[in-house]
Amino acid sequence: MKKRSFFAVGTTLMLTLALVSCGSEEAKDKVEDVAESTTKHIEVAEDFVEETKPAEIVEEVVEEVAALSGADLFMENGCVACHQMDAKTVGPAIKEIGAAYADNADGLTSFLKGESDAIVDVAMAAVMAPQVETTKAMSDEERAALVDYFLNN
Ligand code: HEC
Repeated sequence: MKKRSFFAVGTTLMLTLALVSCGSEEAKDKVEDVAESTTKHIEVAEDFVEETKPAEIVEEVVEEVAALSGADLFMENGCVACHQMDAKTVGPAIKEIGAAYADNADGLTSFLKGESDAIVDVAMAAVMAPQVETTKAMSDEERAALVDYFLNN
């Protein structure tokens, strides 16, 4: 009786060991597979970064967006010398211009292109006229950014 149970325990132990080692062999394969595919993924990602240079793209986009900020364009082109946000100085306030052109973005765009006459302070139009040369020379996107700046302030 004792001998038999010893035998049974031994067999069970051997079977278990066989299973475990077999299982760990499988697990090892799996780990190797995962490692291999992860390495491949990393390689693909590295190639992608190498080819597309996302950091440079982000930098370019940031620069473009900055260039297209109406507020920055307004500063960079010296418009601030004569236009304040709320108060009339040499020229009408930005808000006054925005109110005059509310719902009329096309009208403001055409003024900035030099294609239509002043409507806000007609008597002072001669002072603004030379400035329109600056806005005429801008790209459509830059003018659109300026229009957005006037109408959304
Ligand atoms: C030397 C002062 C001066 C500068 C600089 C100046 N403006 Fe003006 N701006 C005026 C005056 C004065 C008026 C009022 C006359 C008028 O309404 O056109 C005016 C009016 C305007 C109007 C209203 C136009 C309308 O229909 O009456 C817009 C829009 C405008 N300016 C945009 C700009 C932008 C954009 C810049 C910068 C590129 C700029 N201004 C720079 C003096 C200036």
